[in-house]
Formats: sequence, structure tokens, C-alpha cells
Amino acid sequence: MSANNPAAVIVLAAGGGTRMKSKRLPKVLHEVCGRSLVGHAVAAAQELTPQQLVVVVGHMREQVQAHLAERYEGVRTVVQEEQNGTGHAVRIALTALAADGVELDGTVVITTGDAPLLTGGTLAALVAAHAEQGNGVTVLTAVVPDAFGYGRILRDEADSVAAIVEEKDATEAQRAIAEINSGVFAFDAKLLAEALGRVGTDNVQGEEYLTDTLAILRTAGHRVGAVVAGDFRDIVGINDRVQLAEARRMLNARLVERAMREGVTVVDPASTWLDVQVTYEPDAVVHPGTQLRGTTHLGEGCEVGPGTTLTDTSVGADAKVSYTTAFSAEIGELASVGPYAYLRPGAKLARKAKVGTYVEIKNSELGEGAKVPHLSYIGDATIGEGSNIGAASVTVNYDGQQKFRTTIGAHCRTGSDNMFIAPVTIGDGAYTAAGSVIISDVPAGSLGVARAQQRNVAGWVQRKRPGSASAQAAEAAGAGEV
Ligand code: UD1
Ligand code: CA
Repeated sequence: MSANNPAAVIVLAAGGGTRMKSKRLPKVLHEVCGRSLVGHAVAAAQELTPQQLVVVVGHMREQVQAHLAERYEGVRTVVQEEQNGTGHAVRIALTALAADGVELDGTVVITTGDAPLLTGGTLAALVAAHAEQGNGVTVLTAVVPDAFGYGRILRDEADSVAAIVEEKDATEAQRAIAEINSGVFAFDAKLLAEALGRVGTDNVQGEEYLTDTLAILRTAGHRVGAVVAGDFRDIVGINDRVQLAEARRMLNARLVERAMREGVTVVDPASTWLDVQVTYEPDAVVHPGTQLRGTTHLGEGCEVGPGTTLTDTSVGADAKVSYTTAFSAEIGELASVGPYAYLRPGAKLARKAKVGTYVEIKNSELGEGAKVPHLSYIGDATIGEGSNIGAASVTVNYDGQQKFRTTIGAHCRTGSDNMFIAPVTIGDGAYTAAGSVIISDVPAGSLGVARAQQRNVAGWVQRKRPGSASAQAAEAAGAGEV
């Protein structure tokens, strides 16, 4: 529907977010389901492919600008030095665009940086209705269970929108209205600029309200329309951390439902947390207490959880991952991970590889069917196919200054409690003895043994610990007098 591509989308994100009580982070950088609040607004706006995408920044703007520059291409930021209201913010944005020689012709969409459930689809429906009805302005509204804090929609006898009145400026009767302003609008660019020029500050907050433009345009004889959101959740705005948590729960419920509709079994939706960029194949199973973050991908028929947090991690088909924390890891098909495993960036597990209990893997590749079953740290290593690493082994990769690699060939059997002092290479098919500290390479097919000879001091217990339970047990076992 390229005819409906707006001339601009302007995202308002300059406000202080006082009610968040946030010292470190501007409100719009708080995160919900893997995206900042402003990131959600930008992502929804991008779905309209507007000619201009502008974010108005102010409060803690360096952080917001850096965040947008790092993650979102084609976003222009405009600074609103003092936050004198939503109308003021839009006016500043239009002025900045004009100063850059950008002439807006057509529809300008205004959204807010604090409504993370707003979808591109809802925005598109607003823009389409705006064009179809030939409106000067169209506001996205919703009927909400609790209207407190929102601007209320005033309608006339003919049920058309007459004005918006802010909570703080409303009468008792107006406050009883359940239809609220989402803060999202489609405007005719020219009419928006005109109307903003006539917005005053005669209100309780002494601010330029964008919402005043509706009454201004109506009085000037322009069509003012409204689209009522089918689901009020689409438009919930976040002002404090309670609302932040509620919005996260609602968005998560939506993401989990979509996963289930696409064939993923989610055993406990309430304790399963998905980020917006997570992808999956049918017949994946997610057990309770699982968070799938970032660009995590679940392959067909894999099983993850319980108690698992995967970030930017791909899980192959039919793999099993339980009680695991993983960041930027690749888990091959039919692989098995956990319980109680920690996969760090660069952990790559081929088909049928196994990482067992209390095992940490970092920047290491495990070949097909390779196993690290128990109590081990494998860092900066390559382990060939079919090899088995004995329990409680460590690749000693760090000398306090530099990292070194350990290379273990195919079908090796390394003993329990081995230390591989990197750089070191174990050849294909080699074995190492339990308790070995391997400081030099072990050639293919050799057995590497690197441990002290055992010495038994006969009768030591009876001599040194006479009368003890140990001495008595030794005697009963026939250890004899010494
Ligand atoms: C605003 C609307 C209200 C609507 C509600 C929806 C006005 C006057 N009120 O109220 O009708 O129901 O949103 O959530 O428009 N902002 C700026 N610069 C400013 C002021 C605000 O960029 O000078 C930004 C904020 O960062 C925020 C958005 O605009 O993203 C809305 O501002 P906020 O202060 O949250 O407005 P509300 O009181 O919620
Ligand atoms: Ca708000």
C-alpha cells in the first residue's frame, strides 16, 4: 500500500518520565521483550516505510541518540531542549525538518516513545482510515478499563470527536469517560503545522498540548476522525514501573500465543518469556521457567527448559536443553545440554554433541557426538568428533595475560581431572590418564600420562592416629600391627 506511506512519522520521546523514578536510564530506554520502549516505537514506525522517521529527544538525549544510532538505521533525531509539551515537541520537529529543507506533503503520523504494544498494523489501519475518510486529523483512541492519567475523548451529539481534555484539566464528568487518547495521530502535514501555530499554554500544566490541535482543526471546519483500537492493549502507555511490568506481561502473552499458534508447545505460558525477535519451528517444546532472549531460534522438535535462559542462541532440531544459561551459542541438532550448563559466546556444539552438568563452554567447538559430560571448563578449545572429555577437566587457557587454544582431535578419551595447559594439542584417537596435567602435545594414538607415582606408607594411620575410628577400621580389615 505504497499510496499510504506517510511523509513522516514523528516519535515523541523527549519527556523526563518522572514517574519512572529512573536515575540511570531515560524512560524510553527501559526494555520490554528485547527492545527498548523507543525501539518498539521505531520498529512499528518502520513498518509504514515513512519518508522521514524522526524521534524527538530531550531528557538524557545522549543515551537515547547513541542507542538509536547503534540499532536503528535511517532515524533522524531532533532535540527538544525544554519539554514544554507534546505540541511543542512536534512543532520543534517540524521546524527542524523545514530547516533541513524537508518539505512535508501528505500524512504525518505522531506516535509516542512509551507505548510498546503499538504495532505497525495498527498504525497502518490508522493511516488507511485517515486517507479514506479524508480527515484533517485522525486520532487513535481506545476504551480502557482504567482511564486514569490519559486524555479523554470528547464527542458531540453526532458522536464525532470534538476535543481531547487532559486528566488534569478535566471535569468530574469528563473524567468518567472511558474512551482515551492513545497519543497516536495521523495528520495532514499542512494542517498540523497551521494548528500547532495556534496552540496556547492555557492549561493546568502550562504546556503546549498536541491534543489541542483537534478542537482547533474542527473549529476551522476540518474533518476530525477517530479510529478505536480493537484491543486496548495496543495503546497502553507506560509512565511508571508498574505499568512497565504490566506491558511486558501483555506483550509477552501476545508473543507466547503467537508461538503456540505456530506450533510451539509452551507448557506454562505464565513463566515463559519471549523477546520480539525470537524465532522457532513447529513442535519445539518450551518447559516452565524459560526465557528466550534476543535472536534465539528454536529448531523443529527441540526441547528447552525448564529453568533455561537462552540469549542470541540457536537450538538445532531435536536438541534438548535444560537448566541452562547460554549467550550467543550454537547448539546442533540432537545435541544435549544441561542440566546446569553455561554456554558462553562462541560455544558451538555440532550434531549430537553433549554438554552435561556443571559444565561451562566458551569460544569452543565440539565436534559431532563429542561429549563433555561433567564438571568441566572448556574455553578456547576445539574438540573433534566422537571425543569424550573426562569429568572435572579444565582447558587452562589463560596465563594471566594471554589466551591460548587447546586442540583435541577426533575420538579421543581424556581421563578425569585433566588440566590441558594451552597451547596444547591432543592427536586423533589419543588417550590421557586421569589426573594428568597435560603440558605437552600427545601424538595421535598415544596415551598421555602426567602425574606423580603413588606411594603407600604402610601402617601410618595406626601409628599416627592410634585409637581413632580409622585406626580401628584398619585393624578390623586386617591391616595388622606395625
Ligand atoms: C499524553 C497525552 C494524553 C494521552 C497520553 C497517552 C498530551 C497533552 N497528552 O499524556 O492525551 O492520553 O499521552 O499516553 O499530549 N513528550 C515530549 N516532549 C514533551 C512532552 C512529552 O517529547 O515536551 C513525549 C514523552 O516523552 C512521551 C510522550 O510525549 O513519550 C507523551 O508524554 P507524556 O508526558 O507521557 O504525556 P501524558 O501525560 O501521558
Ligand atoms: Ca504517557
